[in-house]
Amino acid sequence: MALQVQVEKFELYDVDPSTTLLEFLRSQTPFKSVKLSCGEGGCGACVALLSKYDPVLDQVEDFTVNSCLTLLCSVNGCSITTAEGVGNSKDGFHPIQKRFAGFHASQCGFCTPGMCVSLYSALVNADKTNRPEPRRGFSKLTVSEAEKSIAGNLCRCTGYRPIADACKSFAADVDMEDLGLNSFWKKGESDEVRLSRLPSYNHNNASSNFPEFLKKELKAGANLASKGYHWYSPVSLEQLQSLLQGGEENDETSMKIVVGNTGTGYYKELVVYERYIDLKYVPELSTIRKDQTGIEIGAAVTISKAIKALKEENDYDPHRGSVGGNLIMAQRKQFPSDMATILLSVGTLVNIMTGQKHEELTLEDFLGMPPLHPKSVLLSIKIPCWVSRKKDVSSETDTKLLFETYRAAPRPLGNTLSYLNAAFLAEVSACSDSTGVVLNNCWLAFGAYGTKHAIRARKVEEFLAGKTLSVSVLYEAIKILETIIVPEDGTSSPAYRSSLAIGFLFEFLSPLVDTPPEISNGWLNGCNSTEWLMGSKFKQNYDQFGETKPPTLLLSAKQVIHSSKEYHPVGEPIQKTGATIQASGEAVYVDDIPSPSNCLHGAFIYSTEPLARVKGIKFKSGSLPNGVTGIISVKDIPGKNVGCVTGLGEEPLYADEVAQCAGDRIAFVVADTQKHADLAANLAVVDYDKENLEPPILSVEEAVERCSFLEVPPFLYPEQVGNFSEGMAEADHQILSAELKLGSQYYFYMETQTALAVPDEDNCIVVYSSTQSPEYTHDTIAKCLGLPGHNVRLITRRVGGGFGGKALKSIPVATACAVAAYKLQRPVRMYLNRKTDMIMAGGRHPMKITYSVGFKSNGKITALKLDILIDAGIYPDVSAIMPEHMVGTLRKYDWGALSFDIKLCKTNLPSRSAMRAPGEIQASFITEAIIEHVASTLSLDVDSVRTINLHTYNSLGLFYKNNAGEPLEYTLPSIWDKLATSSSFYHRTEMIKQFNRTHKWRKRGISRVPTVHEVGMRPTPGKVSILKDGTIVVEVGGVELGQGLWTKVKQMTAYGLSLVQCGGTEELVERVRVIQADTLSLIQGGMTAGSTTSEASCEAVRLCCNVLVERLTALKERLLEQMKSIDWETLILQVEINLLTGETTTLRTDIIYDCGQSLNPAVDLGQIEGAYVQGIGFFMLEEYPTNSDGLVTANGTWSYKIPTVDTIPKQFNVEILNSGHHQNPSGEPPLTLAVSVHCATMAAIKEARKQLISWSGKKEPDIALQLEVPATMPVVKELCGLDTIQKFLQWTIVNTIGTK
Ligand SMILES: Cc1cc2nc3c(=O)[nH]c(=O)nc-3n(C[C@H](O)[C@H](O)[C@H](O)COP(=O)(O)OP(=O)(O)OC[C@H]3O[C@@H](n4cnc5c(N)ncnc54)[C@H](O)[C@@H]3O)c2cc1C
Ligand code: FES
Ligand code: FES
Repeated sequence: MALQVQVEKFELYDVDPSTTLLEFLRSQTPFKSVKLSCGEGGCGACVALLSKYDPVLDQVEDFTVNSCLTLLCSVNGCSITTAEGVGNSKDGFHPIQKRFAGFHASQCGFCTPGMCVSLYSALVNADKTNRPEPRRGFSKLTVSEAEKSIAGNLCRCTGYRPIADACKSFAADVDMEDLGLNSFWKKGESDEVRLSRLPSYNHNNASSNFPEFLKKELKAGANLASKGYHWYSPVSLEQLQSLLQGGEENDETSMKIVVGNTGTGYYKELVVYERYIDLKYVPELSTIRKDQTGIEIGAAVTISKAIKALKEENDYDPHRGSVGGNLIMAQRKQFPSDMATILLSVGTLVNIMTGQKHEELTLEDFLGMPPLHPKSVLLSIKIPCWVSRKKDVSSETDTKLLFETYRAAPRPLGNTLSYLNAAFLAEVSACSDSTGVVLNNCWLAFGAYGTKHAIRARKVEEFLAGKTLSVSVLYEAIKILETIIVPEDGTSSPAYRSSLAIGFLFEFLSPLVDTPPEISNGWLNGCNSTEWLMGSKFKQNYDQFGETKPPTLLLSAKQVIHSSKEYHPVGEPIQKTGATIQASGEAVYVDDIPSPSNCLHGAFIYSTEPLARVKGIKFKSGSLPNGVTGIISVKDIPGKNVGCVTGLGEEPLYADEVAQCAGDRIAFVVADTQKHADLAANLAVVDYDKENLEPPILSVEEAVERCSFLEVPPFLYPEQVGNFSEGMAEADHQILSAELKLGSQYYFYMETQTALAVPDEDNCIVVYSSTQSPEYTHDTIAKCLGLPGHNVRLITRRVGGGFGGKALKSIPVATACAVAAYKLQRPVRMYLNRKTDMIMAGGRHPMKITYSVGFKSNGKITALKLDILIDAGIYPDVSAIMPEHMVGTLRKYDWGALSFDIKLCKTNLPSRSAMRAPGEIQASFITEAIIEHVASTLSLDVDSVRTINLHTYNSLGLFYKNNAGEPLEYTLPSIWDKLATSSSFYHRTEMIKQFNRTHKWRKRGISRVPTVHEVGMRPTPGKVSILKDGTIVVEVGGVELGQGLWTKVKQMTAYGLSLVQCGGTEELVERVRVIQADTLSLIQGGMTAGSTTSEASCEAVRLCCNVLVERLTALKERLLEQMKSIDWETLILQVEINLLTGETTTLRTDIIYDCGQSLNPAVDLGQIEGAYVQGIGFFMLEEYPTNSDGLVTANGTWSYKIPTVDTIPKQFNVEILNSGHHQNPSGEPPLTLAVSVHCATMAAIKEARKQLISWSGKKEPDIALQLEVPATMPVVKELCGLDTIQKFLQWTIVNTIGTK
C-alpha cells in the first residue's frame, strides 16, 4: 500500500491489518504529534487530517480522523497531514500554531497538536466553499464553526476559553473585541492594528496537499495481504458476495466487515481478525439516492454526509462513522444509538443482503430480530418521503408535519451516550372550529434508556391519534408513556430516564395545547388558530423550553490583568515558552523519545479483587501470548520491594503474596510492542485465594469499626480554634450531627503514566519519566534496585498534565520499567492505557463529614465542629497532608470556634493521592454546604449569611495566627464588595428573581463565594550558567507540567541578570534556555506540587543570579519577607437549570483573583481558568465509581466526563489583581471557587422546588435539602422533581376546572 504523510511518500509491503494509523505514525514515521490519550475516539489528541482523492469528481476530500481508531489499510492511497505538516520550526509555523501560542492556548501541550489539526481541517473546508470572500486576514469560517471545530477535543489544562479565542481569531464574523488576552496586541489598540499584529493568514492558501503520484497509484479495491492476514476492498456487490461466501468461518472472530472502524472506540477490540472486508468501495453502499418516494442512503455513507444530505444541522460528528456501522452496533450489540431512534420515528426501511438474498425490512423489525448473522450485510436504508398535505379535499386546513429530536446526555457534544433519546413526528391540523389542534397521527420513538433497542411508543401513538390536544389528553398520554418507558434492571438512574421521556413528550406537544391564560400565565396558549399552523414555525411559543436558551458554546469572556513593570520582564504576560513547538507536535514527551534498539514494552497485571492471595498467573491461551518475553514480579526485585518511597511512607511495587486492593500491581508483562504487552496483560488470568483472610475494608464506616487508620504525624495535624462548647452556648440555634459525603475524582491528565528505562554501563540506569517528583522517583528506583543513588539518573523534560496524579503515582511506573530493564538488561518502556491508568490512579480522597454548628438568629455562626473520615485507600501516599490542607480552607470563614477530628481511614481501595487543591476543594464544599444549611434553617438569603461570616482582620488573626499578614494586606472584604459592584451582583439577583417568576421550566440561580488560600513555600534548588556566547542555561528543581514554570523562570533569570546585560531584557529572555530536570545534575528537586514550585524556583534562580550579579540585595530581602502568606479570591456565578432534563448551564462566571505579585499574569490567568473548569468537573460532571470490590468501573472517555468546550461558562470573566503584597500561586485555589457552580445550582433548584411544592399544594419548607457532588443531570432532576410534569398537569387540570 502507499500513502503520503506530510510530503513524504510511504510504501508499505507488510501491514498487519489491525494496525491503526496512530500506531503506524508513531512507530514508523518521525511524526509523533498524533498523541495517544484515550484510544477510543473520545479526546481528539490523535486527530490527523486525511485527504482522499475522488477520481470520478476529480476532487480531494479533506476530513479529520481519530487516528487511534482508523485502520492503516483503510487509508491506502490517502495523504495524511499531522500537526508537523501543518507547520513546524524548520519550515515555519502555521498561523494556527502561532495564534495558539499567542493566545496562551497551550499549557501542557498534549492536546494542542490535535486541536490545531481540528481547526486546520475546519479552515481548509470552510475556505473551499463558495461563501463570500472574507475580510483580509480571515477565513470563511464562522465563529460558531470555529468553536465547534474543537468540540470533540479534550483539554484538561486550559479551561478552553483561550483555545476558543485562538480558533475564533480566524472567523470571518468575529468581533476582535471578543478575543481575549494575547501576546499580539495591547488593550485599546484599533482593530486594524490588532489585525496587523496577528500572525497573518491567507485563506487562498488554505488547502491540503494532495500528491499527483497518489492520484496515479490510487486503485480502488486494492487487496492487501500480510502473514496470513488479508484486507479486502471489494468494488462491487458481486465481489463482496463472493468474499463473504469464501472462508469457512461463521464466527465473528475470523472475519470483520469494516467501514470507519469507529465502533472499536466503544467496543474495545482485543482480537486480530484473519480477514477484513472494507465496504467503502462498493458503489451501492456508498451512494445517496433521492427520488419522490424518499431518500436511500448506502450503509457505508458517513453519518455526517447523511446529515448533510438530509439538510439538517447536527452537532454530532463521530468522525467518519457510517450509518450502517451505527445501526449494526445497535442491532447486534444493543448500542444505545441516537441514529436508530431518529430513523425509527420516520418509518425507515433497511435493506439486508445475506448470500445472494436481498431483503427489505422495517427498521423496527430489524432492530427487534436476533443479532444479524456475521456474513449478512446491511446495504442501505430508505427514509420514505414525508410531506404536509391537505387533510381532505373539502377541508380548508392543511395538515402540518412536525418533527423534533431530543437527547439528554451528560455533555451536549462529544462522545457521550444519551440517558434517553427521542424523536417525534406528528401530523397535525387545526380544529375545524379553530379552537385547538388535532393530532391526526404521530410516530414516537424512544431509545438508549436501558432498552435493548429503540422502540415506538405505540400505545401512546394510538391513544393520541385523531385527538384534539388538551391538558387532559396530554396527561393521559403521559400516564400511558409511564408504563412503556421502563429501563431494564441494572440500568443507572432508571426513574430519571423515565422522567426524561415524559419531559420530552411534554416539550413536544404542550405548545399545541390550549389553556386559559389565567392558568398558564400567557403560556400554553400559542397555537389555537389555523393561522398558527399555516404561517409560523412550530416552536414559536417556545421560550419556556429553550428557544432563547443560551447557545451551546462560549458567548463572551473578559480578562483584566494588571501587569507591573517594576521587575521587568517579571510580571509581563509573555507567551509560554515552547508553546509553538507544542502546537506543531515537535515538543518531546516521554513516549515520543524514539525507542532504543532492542527496546521492550511493559504492561501491569493488576488485581481485580481486594485483599486476596495471588496463587498464580496464567494466560487464557495456555502459552505465552504473541510477542511476550516474560513476566516480572516481586521475586525479580533485586533490592527492596518498594514502588514509592517518600518521607511520609512507602508502598510495595508488587503485591507480595496478598493483593491489597482491586487495582494493586501484581506483575509486569514484557513484550516486543506496547500493543502485545497490553493484549497479554488483558489475557492474564489470576488465580486468587481468600482462605483465612479477613474480609476487605471497603468503606470508611468499616474502617472505623475495625480501627483501621493511617497515621498523621503530629506536626501535620492543625490546631483547633477557640472553644467549641462556649461557642455553642452563645448560639441561638444549633444543627447537630448533619452529614455530608464526597466522592473521588480522576486526574485525567491527557498523557497517561509513562516511563522509559535504559540500562547504562557500570551497573547504572537512566530512566525517563513523566513525573512531578524526579527526586522521589530516583530514590525509589535506587532502593528497589539495591543500587547506590549515583547509579540512577532520572530525567523529566515535560509532563503532559499532572494535577497531582504524577506526584507519586508515576513512581511505581518508572520503577517497574527500571526493574524490568535491569533484570533483562534491555531498555523497557511503558505507556499505560487509559483503562489501567484509571483503575490504578486512586484519585481524590472521598470522605464522610459529620458536623454540628451553632449560630445566631442573624446567621452569624458561633461554633463549628467537624468529624471527618477520609478514605485514604491502602497505602500512605501523601494522605497525611490532608488534615492541614482541609483546615487551611475550612478557616476561610469566621466560625467563632472551630473544632475537628480528622481521621485517615485505611481501606482496601487504591491509595488516594493528592489531586489539585487536595483537601481544599472538599473543605470549600463543606464550608459552603454548612453556610447554606444555616441560611435555609433561618430562611435567610445565603449571600447575607456568607457576608456576615467573612473574617474581620481580628478574626483572621485568630484563625491564621502569624500568617494573617498586615491589615492592609487583607484585601478580601474589598474584593467582596468590588465583585458585587463590578459584576452587578444585586442587580442580577433581582433579574434572576424576575426570570424565575416568568419561567416554569428553566430556573436560574446566582451565588458569590470567597476563597482563602494559605501559601506554604518549599525550598527548591536552581542553577544558572552563562555560556561563552552569552546564552544562559537554567536548571530548576521543578518540572514543567504546563503551568508555565519555565516561562516564569526565564523571566526571573532575565530580570536577575538584567544588570549585567547591555541589550534589552526581551533579548535576554530569548537567550535563556531552561532545561529538563535531571536528578544527577540538580539534586533535591523535591516535588512539583502545591502551586508554589514556580515561585520557589524563581526565587532560587533569583538567588543564583544574585551570586552572578551581586547587586540585588534589597529586592532579595523584600521577596524573602513574603515567603508565607494567605491570599484571597472571590467569585460570582450564575447558572440555569432545565427542569425537564436536569441539565445545568453555567451562564456567567466572574472571578476576581488577588495574585499578589504575579510573575506572569497570562500564565496565571491560564492557571486560574483551567483550575476553575477542572473544579466544575468535580462539582458537576465527573463520577468515578467502583464496583462492590472497589474496582474502578469508569475507565475511559465514554464513562468519565471531564468538561468540554461546551460545558464551560458562557460568559467567563476573570480579573487578576496585582495587589503586590505577596506572590500568590494560581494553580490550585481557583479550583475551590468552582463550588459556586454547585451553590448557584442549589439556588436554582430551590426555586424549582418552590414551584413544585406550590403545584402539590404542600407548604413544607426545604431545610435539609442536599445536592450531591457531582451534581449530574439525574441528581439535579431528582431534586427538581422527577414527576414535575405530572404535578403541573394535575394542577392545571384542577385549576382549569376551577376557572370554568
Ligand atoms: C467519538 C465517537 C462519538 C460517537 N457519538 C455517538 C453519538 O453521539 N450517538 C450515536 O448514536 N453514536 C455515536 N457514536 C457511534 C458511531 O456512530 C459509530 O461508531 C459509527 O457509526 C460506526 O460506524 P463505522 O463505519 O465506524 O463502523 P465500524 O466500526 O467499521 O463497524 C461497526 C460494526 O458494524 C459492522 N458493520 C459495519 N457496517 C456494516 C454493514 N454495512 N453491514 C454489516 N455489518 C457492518 C462491523 O463489522 C462492526 O461490527 C460515536 C462513536 C465515536 C467513536
Ligand atoms: S481520540 Fe484517539 S486517542 Fe483519544
Ligand atoms: S494544554 Fe490541553 S491538555 Fe494540557
